[in-house]
Amino acid sequence: MKPVNTESRPRKTVLTYGTFDLFHVGHARLLKRLRQLGDRLVVGVSSDEFNASKGKKSFCSFEERAEILLATEFVDEVFAEDSWEQKRKDIKRFNADIFGMGSDWSGKFDDLNDCCEVIYLDRTQDVSTTDIKKALAKISAEDVIQLESSLHAALDIVVNLASSVGNTK
Ligand code: CTP
Repeated sequence: MKPVNTESRPRKTVLTYGTFDLFHVGHARLLKRLRQLGDRLVVGVSSDEFNASKGKKSFCSFEERAEILLATEFVDEVFAEDSWEQKRKDIKRFNADIFGMGSDWSGKFDDLNDCCEVIYLDRTQDVSTTDIKKALAKISAEDVIQLESSLHAALDIVVNLASSVGNTK
């Protein structure tokens, strides 16, 4: 259950952006820490079209990535990120107090400091969607090699059987 702000002080909104493909522990930790900074965490999820414009293709569709984020206990709202330029409008639209990103973006959004507080949180070490994709690609290549050698072994058995049947005729 997502905690609800029952205090009389104004609600604090935190805003972040990302692709969040193949949801992993680095994503979970970042979202958890961002959510702890306020009362509402809003996430701009890059649309499939925006990713394509950057030459990227996610494994999960926009709808799936948005659904996974909303299923966590940290994210309160999601919306589509369609361009680099929309951030100022989004900050106003959601009345965001904090704009937070992982440290791989350090310094990149400092110009937004005039409309809200901009922060960068340390990334979790040794995990990324890119690494997961690479690891999965490696596994399937190994699987193909294993399958090929199993098929060759099976073929050898069939050939040997066929020749021994031929010899007994
Ligand atoms: N993030 C993080 N720690 C990680 C990976 C990502 O804190 N180990 C943060 C990023 O800094 C960003 C957000 O999660 O603020 C969404 O990042 P995203 O680019 O979707 O995830 P990556 O795993 O970095 O994906 P890729 O390898 O495709 O860049």
